[in-house]
Amino acid sequence: MTDPLVIFTPSGKRGHVAPGTTVLEAARQLGVDLDSVCGGRGICSKCQIQPGTGAFPKHGITVAQDALSEVNAVEQRYDDKRGLKPGRRLGCQARIQSDILLDVPPESQLHRQVIRKEAAQRDIHLDPAIRLVYVEVTQPDMHDPSGDLERLRSALRDQWQIEDLQTDLASLKTLQTTLRKGNWSVTAALHQTDGPPRLAALWPGLYEGPVAGLAIDLGSTTIAGHLCDLRTGAVLASSGLMNPQIRFGEDLMSRVSYAMMTEGGAEEMTRAVRDGLADLIRTLASEAGIPPETILDLTLVCNPVMHHLVLGIDPYELGQAPFALATADALTLTAANLDLPAAPSAGLYVLPCIAGHVGADAAAVALSEAPDRAEDLTLIVDVGTNAEILLGHKGRVLACSSPTGPAFEGAQISAGQRAAPGAIERVEIAPLTRIPRVRVIGSDLWSDDPAFDHPVTGICGSGIIEAIAEMRRAGLLDASGLIGSAAQTGSDRILPDGRTHAYLLHDGEPRITVTNADIRAIQMAKAALYAGARLLMDKFGTDSVDRIVLAGAFGAHISPDHALILGMIPDADPAQVTSAGNAAGTGARIALLDKSSRPRIEKLVRQIEKIETAIEPRFQEHFVAASAIPNSADPFPLTRARAALPEPSFQAGADASRRRRRRPA
Ligand code: FES
Repeated sequence: MTDPLVIFTPSGKRGHVAPGTTVLEAARQLGVDLDSVCGGRGICSKCQIQPGTGAFPKHGITVAQDALSEVNAVEQRYDDKRGLKPGRRLGCQARIQSDILLDVPPESQLHRQVIRKEAAQRDIHLDPAIRLVYVEVTQPDMHDPSGDLERLRSALRDQWQIEDLQTDLASLKTLQTTLRKGNWSVTAALHQTDGPPRLAALWPGLYEGPVAGLAIDLGSTTIAGHLCDLRTGAVLASSGLMNPQIRFGEDLMSRVSYAMMTEGGAEEMTRAVRDGLADLIRTLASEAGIPPETILDLTLVCNPVMHHLVLGIDPYELGQAPFALATADALTLTAANLDLPAAPSAGLYVLPCIAGHVGADAAAVALSEAPDRAEDLTLIVDVGTNAEILLGHKGRVLACSSPTGPAFEGAQISAGQRAAPGAIERVEIAPLTRIPRVRVIGSDLWSDDPAFDHPVTGICGSGIIEAIAEMRRAGLLDASGLIGSAAQTGSDRILPDGRTHAYLLHDGEPRITVTNADIRAIQMAKAALYAGARLLMDKFGTDSVDRIVLAGAFGAHISPDHALILGMIPDADPAQVTSAGNAAGTGARIALLDKSSRPRIEKLVRQIEKIETAIEPRFQEHFVAASAIPNSADPFPLTRARAALPEPSFQAGADASRRRRRRPA
């Protein structure tokens, strides 16, 4: 007689096992993901399965009523005490007697897919670095003297075939009390990536409380954190705060100079950012209703300067050519190394940096957007104070960063402000009347709606981009970026502004205008961004890209049409310009939830070709050619949006002498 056939769904894995084999053993033999924390003792219920009975023609199997052994005393006790869902069985207790079809419900699967909310096209594979195991440890014996840690190690070896457990002092300090409190039964959280397992936490008895991880995207302006359930992959809480280092300088270079010029400045900034991270962790934990000590693993992405400052490394070398990093490699540390409030032995993985100007945040974007796996040639632009740009497909990826400056974040703009309630974020200008209407953060209504009553306080980065593109579309601005006079444009919203003009965008308190100086600042920023992208395209030997992905919080708010009119990005079909939201944060979350992504990104970062814009003469050429609106140098056929642009020229005006093009510093 042949051995019973076992088919597991949804994996579809199948095979024959000896009669009397438990479902848990069968799953292990056939390589099926079936969870177990208690090691088959019938107390954790992680191994639950749902057997099917009757005929399953699709699978070519008929299952008898008694295909599984009857409910035994252990299962009955669990059912009486904790309750099993109808039809469910404990896989570690139920034995296979004849052909059987077994469904593994999602909560019993060790590795599963987590749907990405931001972009549905790819899901995260759940395979965290943390694993919980329940062990029964032998009590100490006068006749066989050995330490508690040694006995925990042999219990793990005997009961779980786990060898070579590593511990740090923090875990060792609590080991003895925990073992005794649990009456020699404990649940160990093991942190393991490619090396031996490390004890991340230990609880008395069978631990069924929260098991959390935290993905951190540490930006120069804001810090964002996503607290995740490591059992399900679900996001428990997301929150952000301003980087407390802002008080030492808005942009990265001013922080590097603060570190250079001020005795103890680097240490001061390290303390500030670590304190900020600690606050964020406490906020997230309290929002999720869990103690911070249940955070067992963390991942961190950031730009090179933040990387050095948070780790306590002086960023001095990053302030001068050749911008050498202390290390570009990924780091596997503990949260305690950065004084973060988490489990005392929680892991901390810092993603690798790509180069001295292209940080772990860009590596996280690469992990999230996977340009190396793209079939289409994909340009990914993460817009911030420094734009980080990736271009690639089919295994080849190039990267560079471009000094866009803070104009895209609303700095250097006369009415500029950060993206906060009251900031104009959307602009439309009627082509005939040249009358604008705006929408501000915090309101769903346009300003021409009678019900609109939100205060308008300034204009943020996406708002100024739309305003300038709309002004260009309405013929208020010529291709060189010059605003025409009231007489030239026929618009009474054009106001004299010294020797140039300004456009009245919002007539209220405060009055918000777009000045020629604002346009110059945006022209510089967008020319730098475009020149970086164009340089990568040169290196790739191409004049066009198939797809453009705008990453970052700012990228999420830019309308593709306006970005194309402005010439921020190479010309493309607007339908192929998409936003990836906070791709760096998503990359940090992938690294947290799927440990196999860590060696993957480390390998990709080594393969990425780094282009240094500062030493490329072509960068300057592209920059100069890219300051027109849209770029006069863009060699591609005009898109529909651009083809409709009027072609006014205000060069004959009194402002012609100010039309000198500027180069980046
Ligand atoms: Fe824990 Fe079955 S493995 S109850």
